[in-house]
Amino acid sequence: MKITGGFFITLEGIEGCGKTTQSSMLVEYLEAEGYHVTKTREPGGTAVGGRIRAILLDPESRGITGTTELMLYSADRAQHMAEVIEPALAAGGIVVCDRFADATLAYQGYGRGLDADVIASLTDIATRGCKPDLTILFDLPVEQGLGRAIGRNDSTGAAHESRFEQEALAFHEKVRQGYLAIAACDRERVKVIDASGTIEEVWAVLREVVEAAVKGRG
Ligand code: TMP
Repeated sequence: MKITGGFFITLEGIEGCGKTTQSSMLVEYLEAEGYHVTKTREPGGTAVGGRIRAILLDPESRGITGTTELMLYSADRAQHMAEVIEPALAAGGIVVCDRFADATLAYQGYGRGLDADVIASLTDIATRGCKPDLTILFDLPVEQGLGRAIGRNDSTGAAHESRFEQEALAFHEKVRQGYLAIAACDRERVKVIDASGTIEEVWAVLREVVEAAVKGRG
């Protein structure tokens, strides 16, 4: 299903890739350009989703199976689509979403090894076939990303790493390679940006890519 009028941008990448910082800069820029923008994220873009997010990221949820994890992300997405994304797109606005369905294929598929066809079916149910118009993949080496994520936790006084940040380097490497494979299969939609530079360097590239896509939309 294509919801006419709006423009749907998703931001993806491994832990510590900088997408949350870039997402705020992007929203500020698009609003200054006069667009109506909805800034949101997965998991946790709705009240129900916030509760699902707490379960998913809590290190105490260590007994959770891969299938349970997949279903919780899908449940969060179904609610998010119905409550936030579809209405915002139908109203003709731009939606900027920090993570979306590619994260499920990268983390639960490539990372955890769950079946790609099962993931595709659940994604289809949750999204009702709605796909992003543009996906930005912030790519950088895993060691650099995790280093940033851990530094961020220290500086914000976060008591502990999330369940995903505690995963081994090998898991994050699989996720990174998964994201790159997704991008290679859909170069039209997914634009890979080198996220190893400074915030300003990454922003300059992001701004150019988004400007071209938003202005060139059909
Ligand atoms: P965040 O730190 O970017 O907010 O994302 C929360 C965590 O959830 C992050 O470690 C990636 C993970 N995740 C998945 O494993 N599958 C998904 O479908 C999504 C949206 C996120």
